[in-house]
Amino acid sequence: MHLPDRVTIVEVGPRDGLQNEPGTVPTDIKVGFIDRLSRTGLPVIETTSFVHPRWVPQLADAAEVLATMTPVEGVRYPVLVPNETGLDRALAAGVREIAVFGAASEAFSQRNLNRSIAESIEMFRPVVTRAVEAGLRVRGYVSMVCGCPFQGEVPVDDVRRVTVELFELGCHEISLGDTIGVGTVGQVQHLLEALAPSVLVDRLAVHMHDTYGQGLANTLAAFETGVRVADTSAGGLGGCPYAPGATGNLATEDLVYALHGSGVQTGIDLDDLLATTAWMADRLGRPPASRVARAAMATRPPAEQD
Ligand code: HMG
Ligand code: MG
Repeated sequence: MHLPDRVTIVEVGPRDGLQNEPGTVPTDIKVGFIDRLSRTGLPVIETTSFVHPRWVPQLADAAEVLATMTPVEGVRYPVLVPNETGLDRALAAGVREIAVFGAASEAFSQRNLNRSIAESIEMFRPVVTRAVEAGLRVRGYVSMVCGCPFQGEVPVDDVRRVTVELFELGCHEISLGDTIGVGTVGQVQHLLEALAPSVLVDRLAVHMHDTYGQGLANTLAAFETGVRVADTSAGGLGGCPYAPGATGNLATEDLVYALHGSGVQTGIDLDDLLATTAWMADRLGRPPASRVARAAMATRPPAEQD
């Protein structure tokens, strides 16, 4: 396997993880989580969403989280923004980087954004234009790239079309989401090879949910194909409120352990990350999904286990 010397990990636990908690996590716990993550060497932490609070009540405190957290110099803190109302709220909160989120599946687009794919692109257009004019970096997501719980198979051509459209709007990077974690190594390689003639592969990221335990293999397969950015969540927190059955993202620890053990640099301190995941697991009152975190917690000295 030919892996790169260094990759970028985008931590999405505070957003993708906590948006799916059955109860709303108190703001001070969210801030404690983000501040601890900020000190692990993670370069990018997606902190929250400026979506409609009725749709995702778990993240209704977005502005308060940003006003209370302590940003660390050099760490980027993007947020999700679906529309101009969300952009106005994000700009008022001092955000410097946003992500719009589309889908390759019509059925999911309707459920997640209350719009068709074409209507969602029109919703994003002024958001991206205004954000770029204001000097913000804009990422685009494409969800359901490996399959959709509502429509089943998602044609590669549909993924390509939405990816190209989001780049044309002005996104600097597109993150390909296996929202329900059903993809396999062969599927991911096929998808990336099919996209390669139309887009720059080094401007793509992958965002693998781990429902079927394929997240690590799929992410490594993407790195082998030329992708250099992957999204993960500490402890494997998360899911998607509009994708029934989806579990959390590939756990950050699981990817960092595999990469460091293979000589690939991330800039992340695995021990600090494990301590943060253990802290959050204590707050949520359940063990993390991450295999690496569970193994590490089992061998922690008893003094550190309270
Ligand atoms: P809508 O109901 O069609 O909105 O929702 P609307 O434009 O018709 O507006 C209705 C009302 O909502 C208006 O208020 C707006 O002002 C207000 P009224 O005039 O009736 O009083 N409103 C807002 N308020 C606060 N913030 C806003 C906002 N927008 C409108 N931003 C909308 C459309 C896009 C807003 C809604 O569908 C929504 O919020 N969806 C968010 C869904 C979501 O967050 N999903 C999870 C994230 S995606 C994901 O997890 C996948 C990912 O991880 C990648 C992967 O795994 O594949 C990224
Ligand atoms: Mg996701």
